[in-house]
Amino acid sequence: MDFNIAVLGGDGIGPEVTAEGVKAMQAVGRAFGHNFTLEYGDVGGISIDRHGTPLTDGVRELATSADAVLFGAVGGPKWDDPSAPTRPEDGLLALRAHLNVFANIRPVKVYPELTDSSVLKPHVLEGVDMVVVRELTGGLYYAQPKGRTQTPQGIVGVDTMRYSESEIERVLRVGFELARGRRGKLTSVDKANVLETSRLWRATATRLADEYPDVELEHALVDACAMQIVLRPASYDVIVAENTFGDILTDEAAILAASMGLLPSASLSGTPGFYEPIHGTAPDIAGQGIANPCGSILSAAMMLRYSLGLTEEAAAVDRAVQTVLEQGYRTADIATAGDAATGTTQMGDLVANAIG
Ligand code: NAD
Ligand code: IPM
Ligand code: MN
Repeated sequence: MDFNIAVLGGDGIGPEVTAEGVKAMQAVGRAFGHNFTLEYGDVGGISIDRHGTPLTDGVRELATSADAVLFGAVGGPKWDDPSAPTRPEDGLLALRAHLNVFANIRPVKVYPELTDSSVLKPHVLEGVDMVVVRELTGGLYYAQPKGRTQTPQGIVGVDTMRYSESEIERVLRVGFELARGRRGKLTSVDKANVLETSRLWRATATRLADEYPDVELEHALVDACAMQIVLRPASYDVIVAENTFGDILTDEAAILAASMGLLPSASLSGTPGFYEPIHGTAPDIAGQGIANPCGSILSAAMMLRYSLGLTEEAAAVDRAVQTVLEQGYRTADIATAGDAATGTTQMGDLVANAIG
């Protein structure tokens, strides 16, 4: 089959890891007889430098007309000036909103061979297999009023936490449906002891639970949940959280897997689907060829599964990553003492070869 994929690498290690995600897709194309037409675009800091905006109309169009989008990461110290009129991250946020991808699926899988690479004790990591559903197009990131204003009392910065019941309901349903196809447990995360948006969130989850009698719903306060995620991570199945809480909890959960560099994501429910590793541009290691490309490769696998309907092909990519890790190859972020670290492109080559 023929597919059109928009490839937006972005900044820092974004293009480095995205090239390996693309390599995995091309290996799938060869092994299974598909043709992926790749359309590249600038986004983020590189787009500010070249076009004066983090997201041009052309790239917005390119993303909209593709079958799916493979995204790297945006941002970096070069564009971090707090008084700059725009930032690389604005391009990413605009794209997510434009594509209406409100459900960001972030699976957290622990490879048994990597438990020694995590700072957590192996017995804590045994049996960990959770998926975080992060609300992606609402909350503090987007709601108005937002901005910086001069007041008689001085400068004031404003962000607003706002959620409508329908925004909450649609993302919770994604969580319930996912849980239904897994171990049947849903943890709804909120801060209902303080926040009005959270009280609406909790009430909505409780109301929906009647429609999903096969799913066990538990409510968790976000601060306690952050603690439990490292204390008893194996007890979680599906976690659903609003935008900011989900952002923070998934960076924390990456430590279970051993590295941020391993975690993929799929942003769904708008079309086309949007796929990106959960990590950022890693300015501390950018340009060195040592970044872990597995997050991007596994994001490409999620794209095959969720947007392109290529289930068998997606499983082949997942298996290839597993095989390469079983063979003992480690990028620097997960290498333990005595391991010779594998570079980004070599890791991508190994996975591509393992695909077929
Ligand atoms: P980061 O995720 O870029 O890096 C955090 C740490 O994890 C760093 O030590 C980095 O070296 C390491 N790391 C991340 N990905 C890795 C990989 N694939 N392989 C090996 N090590 C990896 O987070 P940060 O440093 O807080 O942010 C840097 C920039 O990235 C900021 O401008 C931020 O806004 C941006 N960012 C973008 C996205 C995105 O585009 N989706 C996501 C997160 C952060
Ligand atoms: C992520 C990132 C982004 C977010 C930033 C760069 C806007 O941290 O994708 O997790 O907060 O959504
Ligand atoms: Mn994040």
